[in-house]
Amino acid sequence: INNGLAQTPQMGWNSWNFFACDISETVIKETADALVSTGLADLGYIYVNIDDCWSDMKRNPEGKLVPHQTYFPSGIKALADHVHGKSLKLGIYSDAGAFTCQVRPGSLHYEDDDAQLFASWGVDYLKYDNCYNLGIKPQERYPPMRNALNATGRKIFYSICEWGVDDPALWAGKIGNSWRTTDDINDTWASMTTIADLNDKWAAYAGPGGWNDPDMLEVGNGGMTYQEYRAHFSIWALMKAPLLIGCDVRNMSAETLEIISNKEVIAINQDPLGVQGRKVYVSGEDGCLQIWAGPLSGHRLVVVLWNRCSKSATITAGWDALGLESSTNVSIRDLWKHKLVSSTTMASYSALVDAHACEMYIFTPQTMTRSEI
Ligand code: GLA
Repeated sequence: INNGLAQTPQMGWNSWNFFACDISETVIKETADALVSTGLADLGYIYVNIDDCWSDMKRNPEGKLVPHQTYFPSGIKALADHVHGKSLKLGIYSDAGAFTCQVRPGSLHYEDDDAQLFASWGVDYLKYDNCYNLGIKPQERYPPMRNALNATGRKIFYSICEWGVDDPALWAGKIGNSWRTTDDINDTWASMTTIADLNDKWAAYAGPGGWNDPDMLEVGNGGMTYQEYRAHFSIWALMKAPLLIGCDVRNMSAETLEIISNKEVIAINQDPLGVQGRKVYVSGEDGCLQIWAGPLSGHRLVVVLWNRCSKSATITAGWDALGLESSTNVSIRDLWKHKLVSSTTMASYSALVDAHACEMYIFTPQTMTRSEI
């Protein structure tokens, strides 16, 4: 796809994780308003994405998709106008198959008509799912929608939701702006950690224009602890994952807002270098003490010490594991404490990390001054 979008991972909100099919134009409008009033929009969360269940169960007699008359009585164009009026962007959902996963009409063989319709409504983003795909290869089903979106002349973000079935990282880079690498996330520690590991495998394929998508955030939905959600957000940011909020932003706790509003963590995700950080070192029982790291612009590194064990433990990041010379003097900023924690030549940095918690840092190697040389 050649739309110039996704130079950094997409940020916004999506209806599915919290609302599932219980959506309406009121929910979408109130969410757009809440993104603005909470300050989230100013932090970069600009896409307001409607997931499955927005459409009627059938196409109209002319073969067009129609919004559900009870839940979206004003239509999608009116909703797009509202969202655009807040300087936000509107996303919609369809499926590269005969039906969507909730058995609404799919866009397979209707790509051109549907793309034109979405563009005429002012849609800015399409999530394109994989249900009821009639056994046709994804490499044959996803390009026609890319071509159709390109042909509209409107810049529409193309999010490929193929669940990692046919290793989309290997082929979707030429087609979409992001591609799901895994099955659906759910709001549990087990699901979140499993998905992080699966997505890690494809790190080399992410970059400006196209990102691995380990699915949307569950932060704020209630199934994990504060520390677990903080780790979820930290690792998604480090992995250059889409930051799509999946909770009810109209009714968030202060803790939820604090996590998803962390500017320093968001800046890691949006760093212009656009390199997906990886799991670089493991120790402890079953490898549950982990270091995740990656390069940032300005010769800096992001480093996450993640304790996935059941007891608190000290995690030590040796400079060798991070690809640094042992003599390198590094200044270390803690992105959750929001302060410089160390400037050291020690060749390693250690922290005591609570069970299921993480610490997240920017490491800035110091160039030596003349007098030091
Ligand atoms: C699939 C997708 C989810 C969501 C649902 C909607 O399961 O992977 O993200 O869009 O469909 O039905």
